[in-house]
Amino acid sequence: MENKIKEIDLQIEKFKIEDSESLEKFRIQFLGSKNILKDLFAKIKNVAPEKRREIGKSINSLKNKAQIKLETFNEKISEDCRENEKIDLTLPGENFKLGSRHPLSIVNEKIIDIFGKIGFTVSEGPEVEDDWHNFTGLNLPQEHPARDMQDTFYIEKNPDWLLRTHTSSVQMRVMESNELPIRTITPGRVYRNEAISARAHCFFHQVEGLYIDENVSFADLKQTIQYFAQEMFGKHSKIRLRPSYFPFTEPSAEVDVSCSLCKKNGCNVCKYTGWLEIMGCGMIDPNVLSNAGIDPEKYSGFAFGMGVERMAMLKYEVRDLRMWSENDIRFLEQFKSAW
Ligand code: PHE
Repeated sequence: MENKIKEIDLQIEKFKIEDSESLEKFRIQFLGSKNILKDLFAKIKNVAPEKRREIGKSINSLKNKAQIKLETFNEKISEDCRENEKIDLTLPGENFKLGSRHPLSIVNEKIIDIFGKIGFTVSEGPEVEDDWHNFTGLNLPQEHPARDMQDTFYIEKNPDWLLRTHTSSVQMRVMESNELPIRTITPGRVYRNEAISARAHCFFHQVEGLYIDENVSFADLKQTIQYFAQEMFGKHSKIRLRPSYFPFTEPSAEVDVSCSLCKKNGCNVCKYTGWLEIMGCGMIDPNVLSNAGIDPEKYSGFAFGMGVERMAMLKYEVRDLRMWSENDIRFLEQFKSAW
């Protein structure tokens, strides 16, 4: 047995490794699944018991020796290969494609950024909502006709659950759980049961805003939106408010911004009116405050809500809403930040 070990030791030492082929032969012979060292290990049981330990050790050190030799030559051979490769450093590099941010993300982040500068935090909530947070708490009890304004996808298993139709549901949650004052915006995806066309989709994205404190007035709302419009559409933008109706705000208004494309001279985006509709807003209805456990005698607040797709359409002059979600890379890669 000792002789055999010596013999193999010599074989390992003398084995000439010159290229990857002989390296592989070496590996198979001494370290492969049927290597000769395994035969030695198998024969240990024939050795006198007091010698077994030592013989075992010697075979193990053979194995280590083979391993080290393999690794050393492996490195050397791959280094040689690298050296032999003739690299022409003057060749032009291969182009690799850089991805781009989705235009809706660019616009969404811009909106968050604009409100962040005046102290609005970001709040998020679930897309599968319960009736209370999406409707009832917001002053739209069952059978309220205004529920028809937002065709809803209900969850079949439990009709108390639905896909939120607006992110006002998150505002409801924030009002219920947060300390006052509150100043936050709620970006997120919303769903409505609408036939898909250039002007409507069954899902889209909103950013809604909420501000509640003592003595918040309509003037604060108007000023905040004025600031937003100028940051978003340019310093010379003007806003106008038209009376409107939302169940959760009173009074309510629809906001238009002066058309930045034609500078109010009239174009087919603003349909020759010089104004573009950008959001709904209003003072939070006292009922909604009470529903959330906030004292409407002491606190008041405003809320507003806008569609991210709508903002992106106005900013990038894209006319078909479906383009945003078709994920055609040729379309998506064209957008850089618009600011
Ligand atoms: N929740 C409204 C919508 O989805 C938008 C809105 C929010 C209007 C807050 C007024 C105040 O259409």
